[in-house]
Amino acid sequence: MATFPNDLDHSWRQTVRRRVLAWYRVNGRSLPWRESADPYYIWISEIMLQQTTIAAVTAYFERFCKQFPTVQHLARAQETDVLRQWEGLGYYSRARNLHKAARIIVDEHAGELPDHVDGLLKLPGIGPYTARAIASLAYGHGVGILEANTIRVYSRLIGLDENPRSTSGSRTLWKFADWIVAPRSASSFNQGAMDVGSTICTPEDPSCSQCPLQNQCCSYKAGRQHELPRTPPKKKMTDVTEVALVLRRGSKILMRQYSEGERWAGLWDFVRFPVSIEQGNQLLLLPDLDTAGGATLFASESTSCVVQAVREHTGLLISDPYLVTQIRHTVTRFRIRLLCVMATRVHGSVDPTTGFRWQPQVRFDELPLSTTARAIAKLVSG
Ligand code: ADE
Repeated sequence: MATFPNDLDHSWRQTVRRRVLAWYRVNGRSLPWRESADPYYIWISEIMLQQTTIAAVTAYFERFCKQFPTVQHLARAQETDVLRQWEGLGYYSRARNLHKAARIIVDEHAGELPDHVDGLLKLPGIGPYTARAIASLAYGHGVGILEANTIRVYSRLIGLDENPRSTSGSRTLWKFADWIVAPRSASSFNQGAMDVGSTICTPEDPSCSQCPLQNQCCSYKAGRQHELPRTPPKKKMTDVTEVALVLRRGSKILMRQYSEGERWAGLWDFVRFPVSIEQGNQLLLLPDLDTAGGATLFASESTSCVVQAVREHTGLLISDPYLVTQIRHTVTRFRIRLLCVMATRVHGSVDPTTGFRWQPQVRFDELPLSTTARAIAKLVSG
């Protein structure tokens, strides 16, 4: 099979460039962040698109840019408000870094994003991909990019017969990305290559007959487009059981804001802790709200781990935990079963060193919450 760099020559490169650009002119996706080449909007979109699909990002992008239309607006905002706008997108360090970088851009760069890769790389949250995406899409620099789609397209195109995310595979692909990019039309070329990846050169079943690069594709010629890229088997999923506890005193609910360095730094949450799968199964035996009619149910041994954990986490003693619902969700390689337990008989006072505070339930709307905490908040409010 022909491969890069030895077997691909200048005329092959010219054909690929021409074909991607022609295809993009007709078939390029119309996306909200493509309506202008404003570096600020391109930056926001590229950060949102890390680990998240276009379908999920579009509404967030529009709402975020309405709330923070310029880098100055973003720099002036409170972190809590930035996180509230980001809520549901996950990977919240992206939002915190975006906010930190906005302040640096305003304070040290007169409100303009640096216009070159090295300057962009110095900002928090901007790695090689994002720096090159901004430099090419916003400023037209002739640099290549590599994200999930281009990794797949380029791996197949050059017949890369190794894991594209390994050190050597990734070195080859970066070299190729810089070699193949059309230097005077880098924005259209890079976006065209991404669009070919997301609409034609898809992971499972590439539509080679519709591909503008079919005749140039080393994998297609060798009949290996279904084998490549060579991605290692997915990591095995791990089952985890957690408890989220809604402790209520009158109209207030016990909550805590995660601090710097914690998984959900800046977000608020209920009391939350992991339990063993066996404990989780026992907890499921707790009568639910309907059948119990809200009666005191703290009696059985099955709740003692909850009572004990609440004591350890907050200093409070609860006496009526009852199961409200069970939420299943997946984060990276963790399949989480979240048991939502409620208690209204809460004795003692909160240990102030734990960070927990009684928050009026009416503030739920303002506080940034994780996706599951928001689901629980809706349930509690409803
Ligand atoms: N994925 C990451 N950045 C993208 C962009 N600008 N357009 C389409 N898909 C993308």
